[in-house]
Amino acid sequence: MAVSFALSSAERLGWCFLRPTTAATGFRRAAGNSAAASVSVQDGHRKLKTEADLPEIKIFTMLYQMLFKGYLNSVHELQLYQKQVYGPLWKINAGNLQGISITSVELLEELLRKDEKYPCRGYMTLWTEHRDLRGISYGPFTEEGEKWYKLRAVLNKRMLHPKDSLQYGDVVNAVITDFIKRIYYLREMSPTGDLVSNLTNELYRFSLEGIASILFETRIGCLEKEIPAETQEFINSIAQMFTYNMHVALLPNWTRNYLPFWQKYIDGWDGIFKFGTKMINLKMEAIQTRLDTNQEVAGEYLTYLLSSGKMSCKDVYGSVSEVLLAGVDTTSNTMLWALYLLSKDPAAQETLHQEVTKVLKGDRIPTAEEVNSMPFLKAVIKETLRLYPVVPVNSRLIAESEVIIGEYLFPKKTTFNLFHYAISHDEKVFPEPQKFKPERWLRDGRTRPNPFGSIPFGFGVRACVGRRIAELEMHLALARLIKLFEMRPDPTVGEVKANFRSVLVPNKKVNLHFVERQKTET
Ligand code: HEM
Repeated sequence: MAVSFALSSAERLGWCFLRPTTAATGFRRAAGNSAAASVSVQDGHRKLKTEADLPEIKIFTMLYQMLFKGYLNSVHELQLYQKQVYGPLWKINAGNLQGISITSVELLEELLRKDEKYPCRGYMTLWTEHRDLRGISYGPFTEEGEKWYKLRAVLNKRMLHPKDSLQYGDVVNAVITDFIKRIYYLREMSPTGDLVSNLTNELYRFSLEGIASILFETRIGCLEKEIPAETQEFINSIAQMFTYNMHVALLPNWTRNYLPFWQKYIDGWDGIFKFGTKMINLKMEAIQTRLDTNQEVAGEYLTYLLSSGKMSCKDVYGSVSEVLLAGVDTTSNTMLWALYLLSKDPAAQETLHQEVTKVLKGDRIPTAEEVNSMPFLKAVIKETLRLYPVVPVNSRLIAESEVIIGEYLFPKKTTFNLFHYAISHDEKVFPEPQKFKPERWLRDGRTRPNPFGSIPFGFGVRACVGRRIAELEMHLALARLIKLFEMRPDPTVGEVKANFRSVLVPNKKVNLHFVERQKTET
């Protein structure tokens, strides 16, 4: 969900904040060359500046920074560099990339508090084009304005409130049990007897199974030794859509008739919706059978959506696939980084292990409520998301009115790029920002960080709808894994860095030793 830098780039890139794309830009101080265009505006007693007074990054500087300074794969790191050079606020003016970039926690808070009634990240034409072509309803990512608001009101129920997620505890735990079985199997197959290779891939399978089991209320076999053909086709379709999303975003529309990419992109989406539609149809048939035989209709998310009467089937088809897509790379990569960070920090891992074993005696599986007695566990995930925010850059389009941010007045329809990575690595907000220090999040009397310093799930009414589900999955899985295994790095892998591929992914395959712990308690 990498929210794009700007409206136009969002349009081109589609998967806004999971798929940001670009390329950061080359910037130049614009004050020198555009000062003449700068106009002061009065706001009460203070004089406001305009965007013409801001430093400006143009295409060549952007390309230079990307290609020659080596930030092509790490545009999140580029945020740190740009913050150093251009300060807390600057303008990007590089072809399709237009907007105002924010790298200070104070300005970020100010903007988000002034967000509009129907917040907008920028339009997602690439996604909506597919929906229009196939006559599919828009989902939470693609819908805008009042229609989006109404859609979210329905989707939020049974998902967004902390207590909502509790009802999915058993479903999630069943998936974790199968994941743990798979971990045992992979260890056994490994040359050392405890190594899990290519953990990214394994966690992807875990996350997809987890979110699918919540949304479709059925298991889809991602954790079986042989993935069912239909599920594999679905996984391939997701990969295909994301792969060609990039091609179609970058190529001009006229190439669509001559190059194969557009068709492959559309085929990818079709595969995703084919699978989603089948799952939804099966659920509808099951509900109908129960209704026909006067049985009570009970179930979790999909049953609620279908039977609430607040959404048509067409809307359900449109929304469920978008929600599902948002729930895979996000949790799987965060889990990966959490396990990796713990493997490199035996002291933090020991603190976590002690906390988990104190709450969970014997072989007991944690309940969703019990996670509330594990503050360090929650802090590990928060700190992981601070260091590796899934969405390192988000955006907001302030469409309806002018807005004052800091000492600047911006016209309506201004897009703001929210550089979360730069902010969550700012040493004024988080001392020793590069260090993994889960304890900074504990509520034990210490001064807590500025809440806007790290907002990995976004802020306001457009924030992540799956936050509680994601946290539930990650907390329960991490607690159970740490209870059973000690994570140790694989020395052959070496240091792992983050690459920016719509989310922050490891730059190489990550293997970890899952060393089984001695059972000491009854
Ligand atoms: C570590 C896990 C996750 C992180 C860090 C994350 C982060 C985010 C962020 C930053 C946004 C944008 C918020 C904004 O613009 O203010 C978002 C939106 C969204 N997320 Fe998540 N997410 C995660 C997991 C999930 C899961 C598991 C689901 C599905 C159950 C999900 C569904 C969505 C949807 C549908 C939106 C779009 C909401 C809208 O535009 O109305 N996310 N997420």
